[in-house]
Amino acid sequence: MTNMEYLRLKDMVEENLVGFLPEVDHKSITLRDAMVYSLSAGGKRIRPVLLLATCELLGVQAKEAMPYACAIEYIHTYSLIHDDLPAMDDDDLRRGKPTNHKVFGEAMAILAGDGLLHSAFEVMTKDMLMYFDSPQKLQYRVHACYEIAKSSGIRGMVAGQVADIESERKQCSKEMLDYIHLNKTAELISAAILGGAALAGASLEERQNLENYAEALGLAFQIVDDYLDVCGDEAAMGKRAGSDAKKNKSTYPALYGIEKTVERAHELLDRAEEIMAPYYDEAEVFNAVTEELRSQLK
Ligand code: IPE
Ligand code: IPE
Ligand code: MG
Ligand code: MG
Ligand code: MG
Repeated sequence: MTNMEYLRLKDMVEENLVGFLPEVDHKSITLRDAMVYSLSAGGKRIRPVLLLATCELLGVQAKEAMPYACAIEYIHTYSLIHDDLPAMDDDDLRRGKPTNHKVFGEAMAILAGDGLLHSAFEVMTKDMLMYFDSPQKLQYRVHACYEIAKSSGIRGMVAGQVADIESERKQCSKEMLDYIHLNKTAELISAAILGGAALAGASLEERQNLENYAEALGLAFQIVDDYLDVCGDEAAMGKRAGSDAKKNKSTYPALYGIEKTVERAHELLDRAEEIMAPYYDEAEVFNAVTEELRSQLK
């Protein structure tokens, strides 16, 4: 990703991500090391960047939204640590480094994931404590936290991960495949955008537009991820290629073939771009994200 606006917001996230973690007692230093290991390993930071970009689009300063941006990256990173565990996808490379359990062991990797998940809610609710005298700002923050909780939980990412695991070694229906992708991946991407919209007190119409964009982008994002698992370069991805086939996962390439997979991703990216077109130049970060995904489909 080379877009300057994207990189400006990504740098802000990088500057704050570890610093926003709650302090721990020195007896818990291994836990903190394991959490920081995966957080600092890199990553595109697409979710926090989208949250901050949505805030700026709707007139709220990125700085104000930083606890929520960091929280969503904590939740995403926890989901990756657990996703890589032997009981799930059993992967040994993530963000260009050995996976968390390969370095810290399975028990610590589970706990580091737990630690990141709970830190997310600690950071968001700690921010809310400062707004008891500003009911409207407090209400916006509670709303953002609700979006993030809902989308990452049993009606979102966790549900998607369950369906993903239960669909291994099966010919699942196209409907089920979309359910998996919309939940395991699109939900958290939507939470970033709708969380940002909530922080800005967006109107119902604005929210609907952004929700439509987020759903198209989120589905395209996982389709491109499936495509890269077949056609991508391990070094560029920082994770193993061929992991899905090894686990007999239900994916777009497995169900539709590569050509249809690429076609569907382009369709969804076109749709996402159409939805953002009325925002013109103000949607620069959003368009940079769809362009970046498009460029991967070679
Ligand atoms: C990987 O997410 C897991 C999926 C939902 C496809 P990302 O592709 O955003 O991973 P990082 O954060 O850049 O490592
Ligand atoms: C992961 O999907 C989605 C979540 C972590 C919630 P994948 O299993 O396809 O992600 P990668 O390919 O391991 O990054
Ligand atoms: Mg998985
Ligand atoms: Mg995986
Ligand atoms: Mg994948």
